[in-house]
Amino acid sequence: MVIRLEFLINKSFPMKALPVVPRLRILKRMFKMVQNPIPYFEEYNAEFGDTYMLYMGGMDRGIVSSNPDFIQHILQKKNKNYPKSHIQTDLLAGYVGLGLLTSDGDYWLRQRRLIQPGFHRQKLAALVEIMQAEIEKSCAHFEQKAQNKTVFDINEVGMELAFKVVAKSLFGSQIEENTMNTLADNITTLQEFIIQQIRLPFKKPWFHLTGQVTKHKKMGQESADIIKSLIEKRRASGQSNDDLLDMLLSVRYEDTNEGMTDQQLVDEALILFVAGHETTANAIAWIFYLLQQHPEVVEKLRKEFDGVLGDGKPTFENLRQLEYTTQVINESMRLYPPAWITDRVALEDDEVNGYSIKKGDMVVAFFYGLHHSNDLWDEPKKFKPERFAKARKKERHPYSFLPFGGGPRLCIGNNFAMMEMQMILVHLIQKYDFEMVKNQKIELQPMVTLRPKEGIKMSVRSV
Ligand code: HEM
Repeated sequence: MVIRLEFLINKSFPMKALPVVPRLRILKRMFKMVQNPIPYFEEYNAEFGDTYMLYMGGMDRGIVSSNPDFIQHILQKKNKNYPKSHIQTDLLAGYVGLGLLTSDGDYWLRQRRLIQPGFHRQKLAALVEIMQAEIEKSCAHFEQKAQNKTVFDINEVGMELAFKVVAKSLFGSQIEENTMNTLADNITTLQEFIIQQIRLPFKKPWFHLTGQVTKHKKMGQESADIIKSLIEKRRASGQSNDDLLDMLLSVRYEDTNEGMTDQQLVDEALILFVAGHETTANAIAWIFYLLQQHPEVVEKLRKEFDGVLGDGKPTFENLRQLEYTTQVINESMRLYPPAWITDRVALEDDEVNGYSIKKGDMVVAFFYGLHHSNDLWDEPKKFKPERFAKARKKERHPYSFLPFGGGPRLCIGNNFAMMEMQMILVHLIQKYDFEMVKNQKIELQPMVTLRPKEGIKMSVRSV
């Protein structure tokens, strides 16, 4: 009976063969694809549909999908069958330690349960003042830039700003300027080196032979040591600062009622820097890039700021009322998702949308493709913040817009990042008009995050 039933099921739902991008085609374009896979993935989307297979490096099976049901299956419904790939765990962890972003399995779950409440929206209220003070301080140079008509790269400025906001949110006034700069330099260099290892795996022996691996591991250790000394000083002072470090120091595991060890604290703090600054910086750069092309949107933003904030500063309460600002940020992250991709590996054979997945297959959620899909978005290439109006939310597939990922590994810093971006917009848009230097070619550079390749050169005028 059971056999007959299975036979019927198989007959009525035959497995579809995954379209395969011919190996030769991949091999021929390997070098260019490694530099920027997005145009190729989009081309395959148009030719093979929203889910297809390609042999990565000519060898390993990789399934790329921009289909919301497929992605929901991987990230949420069957997430236990799809842990992170070794790129995010082993490779990254080898340099920046075992924190939320780089751990997996039971260890990750225990850490996530412990840390999650600290990032709850309400808890973040305590950080608004710290963030606002740092934004004001770090943006003071815009005044001179406006007077001297200085040209600057908004991506670079965004990197420094986002780094400092995370640093101050973690360590409050305890962290000094030069310590922040050393940490920022180290972390940026490390991330660049890690990317090279992912993109150019055949160079691995060379990186070892030339001592580059050792050099960068030392750099990771140096960053960890800096953080460790900050933690030790805080413990010794016995003071409470209402910052993220206080939160990390005060949380207790449910089963043992103990807190994290110093090593765990260092790892988690370092990971917050890694995960939280470049993503936000890229988002800021793309938001200003889009805004200077859409003065009508800037006008609407200013109206909203006037209506909601008046002459006052952002507070936890009034930030929630900045609905149009949120729409602008979302629409920018739809067009330019800072986390443009993520990957997982199948633990066991599985079936998704009628396709068979084999144990060991790498599965790639191509968020950029998802956000630009003609099936999911009307005029997907156009910047239309209104599409994110609250009333229109139910029109969308819940997995059609995933700037912060989805499922249990959803970005823990999503509310933090949204608040931060809102505050930066309020501060800068109220004071300045942004203008892009003419004749620049803005190209995508999808590294770990989606950067503008040569930056975006801009100048500002006081409003
Ligand atoms: C615009 C800004 C940001 C974007 C677009 C972003 C995006 C993402 C995405 C897509 C993931 C999931 C990755 C995956 O599933 O493989 C993630 C995870 C993570 N993000 Fe963010 N992020 C942002 C800002 C932040 C900030 C500000 C912080 C911390 C202060 C942060 C901390 C983390 C951490 C710790 C994880 C790992 C969570 C886990 O696996 O449990 N992120 N982020």
